[in-house]
Amino acid sequence: MDVIQAIKERRSINFFEPDRDIPAEKIREVLEVAKLAPSSMNLQPWRVIVVNDQERKKVLRKCAFDQPKVEEASAVLIMVADPGSVEENLDKVLESWVELGYMKPEMKETYNGIAKALYSDEQSLKRKFFAVKNTSLYAMSIMMVAKGLGLETHPMDGFDEDAVKKTFSIPDDMLIPMLIAVGYLKSGITLLPRAYRKNYENFVTFNNYT
Ligand SMILES: Cc1cc2nc3c(=O)[nH]c(=O)nc-3n(C[C@H](O)[C@H](O)[C@H](O)COP(=O)(O)O)c2cc1C
Repeated sequence: MDVIQAIKERRSINFFEPDRDIPAEKIREVLEVAKLAPSSMNLQPWRVIVVNDQERKKVLRKCAFDQPKVEEASAVLIMVADPGSVEENLDKVLESWVELGYMKPEMKETYNGIAKALYSDEQSLKRKFFAVKNTSLYAMSIMMVAKGLGLETHPMDGFDEDAVKKTFSIPDDMLIPMLIAVGYLKSGITLLPRAYRKNYENFVTFNNYT
């Protein structure tokens, strides 16, 4: 499936085939291909918890305002954004840039300074935005790759973040931009037509906001 077709055909699916598993290799393929998503300074501030155990999905459904798709989808991905990824990953990223010839070793200090200036300290709002925006790009990439590999998805922010953190042992300083249900469309379901989208003229301007 080409990328334009995948974008046009992706829909947020409410009715998943409840008893169909996704093979572990296919989940891996989705997450591995999707990780080629871009990220600020290539810092990849995401983690993913794949919830595919029936009992754990039931528990997650309770944290997600009882949305049935959380239990019925083959798996639900808890997208975790890690504001601490700057400290954790920057050295690795810079070393690989040196190794691959993107920059000379003496540039490392400059990039350390840039990262500090751009993302501020770990507790700052700026840092939270950094983690959430990049993890959301990864999430979109996951939805597109899933579509390309014959799977359906549904992103969700209808959940109690504190309850999800507590139940799935996620440290307090992490953020959860969304959950993504992944699976197969339930047989016999016909999707309603694609819902309203804004008119191009209402949100696009050239060269200025107004
Ligand atoms: C970040 C995000 C959170 C969402 N949260 C929910 C949700 O909790 N429950 C739900 O039924 N739909 C949720 N949606 C799905 C949207 O309602 C859906 O994307 C939108 O109506 C457009 O439909 P489409 O994705 O089929 O084009 C969410 C979508 C996004 C991107």
